Amino acid sequence: MMNGLRKISKRIQVAWQCPSNIALVKYWGKRDFQLPENPSLSFSLKNSVTETSVEIIPGGSGKVDFLFDGRESVFAQRVETFIDRLSVEAGWMRKVDFRMDSKNTFPHSAGIASSASAFGSLALCLADLDSMFSKGETDLYARASSWARMGSGSACRSVFGGFAIWGKTNLFELAGDEQAIPLNGPIHPVFKGLKDAVLLVSSGEKEISSSKGHQLMETNLFKRSRIAQAHEHLYGLYLTLLTGDKQAFLEIAEAEALSLHAMMMTSNPPFILLKPNSLEIIQRIKLFRERTKIPLGFTIDAGPNIHLLYFQENKTEVQTFIEGELLSLCEDRRWIDDGMGDGPVKIS
Ligand code: PMV
Repeated sequence: MMNGLRKISKRIQVAWQCPSNIALVKYWGKRDFQLPENPSLSFSLKNSVTETSVEIIPGGSGKVDFLFDGRESVFAQRVETFIDRLSVEAGWMRKVDFRMDSKNTFPHSAGIASSASAFGSLALCLADLDSMFSKGETDLYARASSWARMGSGSACRSVFGGFAIWGKTNLFELAGDEQAIPLNGPIHPVFKGLKDAVLLVSSGEKEISSSKGHQLMETNLFKRSRIAQAHEHLYGLYLTLLTGDKQAFLEIAEAEALSLHAMMMTSNPPFILLKPNSLEIIQRIKLFRERTKIPLGFTIDAGPNIHLLYFQENKTEVQTFIEGELLSLCEDRRWIDDGMGDGPVKIS
């Protein structure tokens, strides 16, 4: 043992696959170090995943060699800072060098949040390694969630399958700001087939990063009411998950997405991430819903793309609608056929 750690005497390599997630109740605004101002609720996706492998080389000094799709990446600097932060808690990270390889199953340029799956998979690899030679017993996923949060807040929800909650709420005693928890309660079976069609409106560079967006919430005039609304929406949404009320579920998801963007428009300085085609898609979704009575709706991340939410049993009609009426509004007619997934998988 050295400093309470088992001696690391050989190279070890682990690899994990971790999905991206989409929030239904949005995290927007943070305090201290990556702690959320309000609780959020998301579900993990099935097809939008990152695979990361981490090899540790003993006798090093915490040096990071990070490749994305086999090439050097701008992400490397962020990963180095991430390792530096974690090494305060996990001293072994200063005694090894790292070789990391990461790739996404979805196009990097698609404009969908890849930092959640990237930091989720990286944190799972590191927590897995940690469990091999650090003393004490900590749940692997709990630790990975807490570590993923330090890389990107929303990443802490990606290390679980199905629905996850992050942030203090009276609803769940175990929910806290440091890490997410999986929602293991009696979820109504209608949500088993929850689908998310990611309609790629624009893959261009965002006007403002999400970390700057979070920061601007500090001075937003509506900050207090937004936090109160997120708590209310969390209660309401959780109730729909128990009762299977699809309509109320979609109403809350849409209200959350619009509030998130309203917060951006009321920040100082204000900013708008939606594009004309984002609004046109929303309009067409509403008209289709009125016309067909099929339960479908939308949510939106910090960007212009629209996540069309619907249910497995309506797949044929909804996908015909997407192809016939929505793809002409997407960049290069691109969309991702996704839905709720079972969470991360250890590859090696
Ligand atoms: O994890 P970050 O810092 O990229 O923030 C993500 C915030 C939203 O995606 C807009 C909402 C959420 O809860 O995921």
